[in-house]
Amino acid sequence: MRSISTRLAVWYAAAATLTLACLFVVGYQLLQTYLIDGLDLLNSAEFEQIKAHLGNDYMTQSTRIIDERVRETTEFSSVLFYIELDSPQRGTVFSSRNLQALAIPDIPGQHRYNAELPRIGELRVAEFVLPFLDITIATPLSPVRKVMEGYVEVCAWLLAAMLGASVLIGFGLSRLALRPMRLMRETANRIRSDNLSERIPVMQVQDEVSDLARLLNQMFDRLESAFKQVRNFTAEASHELKTPLSLVRLQAEKLLVGGNLSASNEEAVQMQLEELARVNQIIDEMLFLSRAEARAITLQCKANDPERFLKSFALDARVLAEHGGQEFLTLHEGVGCVSFDDKRIRQVLLNLLANALAVSPPGGMVTLRSQLGAKEWRVSVEDQGPGLPCDQHERIFDRFVRVNPRDTDGRGSGLGLAICRSIIMLHQGHIFAESGKEGHGLSVVFTIPVTLAAATAELGGLRQVGR
Ligand SMILES: Nc1ncnc2c1ncn2[C@@H]1O[C@H](COP(=O)(O)OP(=O)(O)OP(=O)(O)O)[C@@H](O)[C@H]1O
Ligand SMILES: [Mg+2]
Repeated sequence: MRSISTRLAVWYAAAATLTLACLFVVGYQLLQTYLIDGLDLLNSAEFEQIKAHLGNDYMTQSTRIIDERVRETTEFSSVLFYIELDSPQRGTVFSSRNLQALAIPDIPGQHRYNAELPRIGELRVAEFVLPFLDITIATPLSPVRKVMEGYVEVCAWLLAAMLGASVLIGFGLSRLALRPMRLMRETANRIRSDNLSERIPVMQVQDEVSDLARLLNQMFDRLESAFKQVRNFTAEASHELKTPLSLVRLQAEKLLVGGNLSASNEEAVQMQLEELARVNQIIDEMLFLSRAEARAITLQCKANDPERFLKSFALDARVLAEHGGQEFLTLHEGVGCVSFDDKRIRQVLLNLLANALAVSPPGGMVTLRSQLGAKEWRVSVEDQGPGLPCDQHERIFDRFVRVNPRDTDGRGSGLGLAICRSIIMLHQGHIFAESGKEGHGLSVVFTIPVTLAAATAELGGLRQVGR
């Protein structure tokens, strides 16, 4: 049971049902004692009646007279009572007909007890002592047993009903009690590095849960300010580095233009310029990432036809692929428009293509599949390279992560996919990597939601774009 509300409901139901079961057991004992006491009272009343009919002179009367006197009073109640009169001198002086010549068992030292007679069943027996006469009166116990059986049956039904009702009530109560916790979980789940300003709603009441919410909010405040500081530092450092770098580049270009350099020095300055361009690009990318995280980038979104967009992208992509002796194929499915910033999405596709071409073998094929549905536009770029272990699929979208730098040209900075993720998230979409369709290679997939304004999509057949 992984959910607390299920556990609470089960505990509540078990506790409530167990308590009721205990009460029923106590009730069983009390009711049974009460009913048996009733039988004892009946036996006593019958004894009083017999005693009255026997008269005071019974000691001097013959057995026949005693029998007549007792039978007179007991015959009409022969269904209810079993009666036996014994005299220490004369033996049994009376035995009611319903006893069928059987003797009521005697338990020495006890005056009220239960006994069992063959053909008659269970009896409640009471013994009374008169001078020279022991009177034993018994009543059937079967009515008591029947009442108790009925009681057990009713209790069993009530327990089952109680179990069902308490499970439902327990679920309801635990859901109600855990509602603030669920709200906290949902909000905390939404709070990420790109969404640090959201806070957990705090209840008006002053209890443990609202205290916890307040504490978590304070923690998010501290996290937000730390994140802001890091972002500001990255943005400011990148910005500050740009001016000296531009100056160094200008100086190097001046040296080249001067033409006074030896061949080896000229080559060294050329290399410096290349490296400077690379550092400049990394700084631009870092600036872009920190501005994207601070939501300071505005997209130029407009309704685009993905098929036309991909046709134009495929022209450049094919040239890039052919340059490395590889092939590029674009497949598109669906008709309609999606709202996106074409320059940014082109940037994403170029980075995915560059990654795919970098790992694909010569003659390998990179396939771009595009599918426009009613709710989202899904694009995947799949290569025939070595692929990546599943545990790296998530990691490669982090900054400066390069899994096998030697597999690529070794010059990447590891920021490309982080930028792709930022751009796709700015479009409210998702990006992820999965293994290639045939078990080898890597497929990087992104989806962008189709907004109502741009949605005129209807599914068509799969067709090749361009060529
Ligand atoms: N298609 C792919 N197949 C296998 N590994 C890949 C693939 N795409 C990306 N990777 C791995 O993910 C890492 C990160 O990719 P990313 O595009 O972020 O950086 P990069 O290509 O190394 O540098 P750059 O910043 O120039 O793009 C790569 O270094 C590579 O190890
Ligand atoms: Mg890359």
